[in-house]
Amino acid sequence: SKKISIAIDGPAAAGKSTVAKKIAKDLGYTYIDTGAMYRALTLKALQNGISLEDEKALTKLLNEMTIELKPVNEGQQVLVNGEDVTAIIRSNEVTKHVSTVSKHPNVREEMVKRQKQLAGNGGVVMDGRDIGTHVLPNAELKIFLKASVEERAKRRYEENLRKGFTSDLTQLKKEIEERDKLDSTRATAPLKKAPDAVEIDTTSLTIEEVAELIKELVKERL
Ligand code: C5P
Repeated sequence: SKKISIAIDGPAAAGKSTVAKKIAKDLGYTYIDTGAMYRALTLKALQNGISLEDEKALTKLLNEMTIELKPVNEGQQVLVNGEDVTAIIRSNEVTKHVSTVSKHPNVREEMVKRQKQLAGNGGVVMDGRDIGTHVLPNAELKIFLKASVEERAKRRYEENLRKGFTSDLTQLKKEIEERDKLDSTRATAPLKKAPDAVEIDTTSLTIEEVAELIKELVKERL
């Protein structure tokens, strides 16, 4: 049966990865989290004391680095040079700096090249910021997920609680706003809805409702 490519973009903490994982599982597609790749590079740059403004050094580091996204039950394991960095790339330290690393054109060029290879010939759900606009411009289905910043901060707060720690809601909101601002104002491939993307406001929807909506759109395209 035909397998399409699905691009999911949107601001931070809009539920992209949760929804993308669910859809991939339900359809038997491969889930590809492109944010994890930028996070992996950020982690290694921080560990190696590389300036996050040094585009040349960052690009060299990336070129010498393997990033594997391995499907594991319901999710994805992230390996850098064979080392499991799945948990640590979600740390506050990495989250705080990732938008600085991802603004560099030469870093993005290499990431997009790798992401296109990973996407192959379809049967993928890929999430990020520039998937519909740059990575998979020919994707049969493009989704732009959004939600109010209050709702997104609340979701991240609850997610952190489930992981076992409390966070400052106001601080979370500030960090999310700051990251969105950096991501949507950078010169190269900023966060932006593709003209042919379907926009879904998830503020008052559950994960299941969003996933159902998207699966209906998939059916129309098969
Ligand atoms: O999706 P996630 O929040 O893990 O992404 C982390 C960061 O990686 C984003 O804030 C953005 O700076 C960068 N990113 C990007 N392009 C993508 C995916 C992520 O610039 N396709």
